[in-house]
Amino acid sequence: MRNLFLYQLMLLTGFLAYAQSSQDQKALDQKVSQFLDQNRSEWRDMNVPYNDGKVLYDLIVKNNYTSALEIGTSTGHSTTWIAWALSKTGGKLITIDIDERRINIARENLKKAGLSEFVDFRRADAHALVKQLEGPFDFVFSDADKDWYRQYFIDIDPKLKVGGCFTAHNVRGSMRGIGEFLDHVRSQDNYETTIDRTSRSGISISYKRSESDP
Ligand SMILES: C[S@@+](CC[C@H](N)C(=O)[O-])C[C@H]1O[C@@H](n2cnc3c(N)ncnc32)[C@H](O)[C@@H]1O
Repeated sequence: MRNLFLYQLMLLTGFLAYAQSSQDQKALDQKVSQFLDQNRSEWRDMNVPYNDGKVLYDLIVKNNYTSALEIGTSTGHSTTWIAWALSKTGGKLITIDIDERRINIARENLKKAGLSEFVDFRRADAHALVKQLEGPFDFVFSDADKDWYRQYFIDIDPKLKVGGCFTAHNVRGSMRGIGEFLDHVRSQDNYETTIDRTSRSGISISYKRSESDP
């Protein structure tokens, strides 16, 4: 009898905790969604468009990614989408930008969206920091200096989990470095690279299928 009572109590506690956390997530969803809608046409610092942010969000949620890295925060539009997705998967994001003004605005924006707890902001030169970060990561978004994309990929590859993906923005353009980057990722036998069709500027998505042969 006593055991049955304890069992029922445990079930009830579990249910109440679940109900509370789904209510919290619902409130957060509303807050973020409102923030993104209100600011949809307000991003002025080379930020990704709304659609491209949604592409990143969907990738993370679909694959249940939890350890993300963003190179190029600017004022935090893509950061908001990535952090929102991570709020669903229980993950965390490290985001890097060299520009103090922009990354400070990004901090404020993420606070307004209610997503600060999911983001670790690093003001640094990503050329050096990406080499130092331990990882492992399962999702990477590269959106800083295009002529360094290839090098970012080379530095991150050993820290990217199998099943994870390396994404890069503006790959449809003719900016310096994009051709070299795409040639490089496409030449990796253990990666499968596609370009998202819905993004005007182009987001490449390179899934790591296995570790490379020694
Ligand atoms: C295209 S913007 C990023 C836009 C951002 N992903 C968004 O959608 O809101 C590129 C950013 O990369 C940063 N950046 C450029 N070179 C960098 C470097 N070597 N290290 C860190 N950040 C860099 C710039 O300061 C700029 O804010």
